[in-house]
Amino acid sequence: MKTDPAWLPDQAFRAIGTRRVVVCGGDGPVVRTVVDEVTRACARYGGRVWHGTAGSPDADGADLLLVLTDLDCLPGEAAAVRAEIAPGQPLGKEGYALARPAGATVVVADGPAGLLYGLFHVARLGEAAFDGWRPLEVHRPASARRMLDHWDNIDVHPVMGQVERGYAGGSIFWRAGEPRDLHRVREYGRLLAAIGVNAVAVNNVNVHATEARLLTDRLGDVAAIADVLRPFGIRTHLSVSFASPMVLGGLPTADPLDPRVREWWSSAVADVYATIPDFGGFVVKADSEGQPGPFGYGRTHADGANALAAALSDHGGVVHWRAFVYNHRQDWRDRTTDRARAAYDHFAPLDGQFADNVILQVKYGPIDFQTREPVSPVIAAMPSTSVAVELQVTQEYTGQQRHVCYLGPLWASILRFRPWGPDGRAVASVAGDGGGLVAVSNVGDDPFWTGHPLAQANLYAFGRLAWDPFLDPLDVLDEWISLTFAPCPSVLRSALHEIMDSSWQVYESYTAPLGVGFMVNPGSHYGPGVDGYEYTPWGTYHFADRDGVGVDRTRASGTGYTGQYPAPWRDVYESVASCPDELLLFFHHVPYSHVLRSGLPLIQHIYDTHFDGVTKVVEMRRRWAEIADFVNAARHARVAQLLDEQVRCAQEWRDQINAYFFRKSGIPDARGRHIH
Ligand code: GCU
Repeated sequence: MKTDPAWLPDQAFRAIGTRRVVVCGGDGPVVRTVVDEVTRACARYGGRVWHGTAGSPDADGADLLLVLTDLDCLPGEAAAVRAEIAPGQPLGKEGYALARPAGATVVVADGPAGLLYGLFHVARLGEAAFDGWRPLEVHRPASARRMLDHWDNIDVHPVMGQVERGYAGGSIFWRAGEPRDLHRVREYGRLLAAIGVNAVAVNNVNVHATEARLLTDRLGDVAAIADVLRPFGIRTHLSVSFASPMVLGGLPTADPLDPRVREWWSSAVADVYATIPDFGGFVVKADSEGQPGPFGYGRTHADGANALAAALSDHGGVVHWRAFVYNHRQDWRDRTTDRARAAYDHFAPLDGQFADNVILQVKYGPIDFQTREPVSPVIAAMPSTSVAVELQVTQEYTGQQRHVCYLGPLWASILRFRPWGPDGRAVASVAGDGGGLVAVSNVGDDPFWTGHPLAQANLYAFGRLAWDPFLDPLDVLDEWISLTFAPCPSVLRSALHEIMDSSWQVYESYTAPLGVGFMVNPGSHYGPGVDGYEYTPWGTYHFADRDGVGVDRTRASGTGYTGQYPAPWRDVYESVASCPDELLLFFHHVPYSHVLRSGLPLIQHIYDTHFDGVTKVVEMRRRWAEIADFVNAARHARVAQLLDEQVRCAQEWRDQINAYFFRKSGIPDARGRHIH
């Protein structure tokens, strides 16, 4: 089967392709991409393209002008649009202005990437871009770094497969230990450019022996990928092993303060830049889940990160140092070992000690990409450090691309969260300060890219929200629908919204309740395993007993985790009375009779949501069946088959969770339903 065009089917460029388009800009690789896009669209739909570096002789008759402002002579309309942009508010390398002053739609940009993003904006607007008059709009990304991390291995790992936590087949970069033909990577770059992603890390954060060599003797693999992604405005990054000086360089140590180690990193990095001049930098998982790190040498994470940063700084590279550090061999029930506390305990004391080109990459929650977690307190604890927020587009804990689970609303809630209260800054603004947004990618070599065709919407939403975190995630979903299913009939659009809008909340309703997390099968993290968490040999981490459930993370009587938040949240979360219900069991151990804001006792909430969740999934499946005539047959069949699995799995969750809590509590369902 041909690769699915995802949100860039030919139709998405129809409006542009029927027009007279003028591109005024230089001839670099990114401008070339702009010209290629419009040329292809015009060839298909009968439009005309002119491309040059100075004012076009044809500009007068153009329907669409795409103009780089560094030209000596701007076409009149473009000069007028440029003049309207507030002085002192530069567009920047990636921003663009869009207007339709008279008969022509005009995009102006100061840099090639801005021109490319402006073109895709016009594609999103479709015919509306050419309709009537449009006032000036200026668009700039909220964060300069919008990155996807691939957890791809070159070899197939015996337990994790080729892509760790990948649910869409093998890697798009490698097959059977060798680089692949990169035509799909090209398509991928195009899809990413259309949503504004500008950085990709190509290999797994757990760096195994073969992948470690990407830094040295397999650097050619990385250079080839970088060549393919560069015309889409994307810089390539690499996950490296902290132990590289030993495993690749043969040194007896990887101590970050040892001069031989520092010299080794400098020389390795110099080679990288000689091969890939716009290389982005490193991603490092250190001292976590078995990966080597500075602790082995009695050094701190700042010492470790700074050593690599020193090697990169002259070349304009950065180190994404991950804050996902905890001791996975440790019992984390009490004050000193609560896993939720770990990232803050490790990193908050180091604020101010990181080099300027270190970015601390923090998972959005304190645990691990759960369906519902509070926002990580590390984000508010590092005022002198660049912080990137890490999301997970791959649905490790949210249905593994077998369940429909549109994550836009979850991410929007994180990005809009204000750690210092309603008058303080939002998470998005902290990330916008230099760190950016990062997500673990969900694509593989599956023809639909993402296994579940509807999981493409998550990748789409990540890019769009990284560009503008305050977009309404349901508007973003609507954009994705309009492009992907173009031209989308209203019956299809409304069915897709019914299926997808609340699918994250539906998923939550039949899985672990009220922020308690996990309850998945160990290892695979798929399907219900109520007591199955792998790192709790001493018992259940959720503390369910015959009286109640939940983890006491208060300062008063629990692990003290609430104290890692600034006011007001440290107090809001501390008290059962003010803690939001959706996070109740994350912060508190409460009796089954505890009455929620809905008026229902906790145990009844658990029963009701689990019955209700299954009903909703059955309804999703019914809606999907109804629209068979409006969807490409292969895509329809794939989703239908996965919805069968979602129904099956949701029932299994319902039955296991309800039976578990019924047996623990002995309290029957007030509505008299049968609990298996
Ligand atoms: C999770 C995931 C691992 C991954 C880790 C990480 O624990 O299950 O597969 O390596 O996160 O983010 O590093």
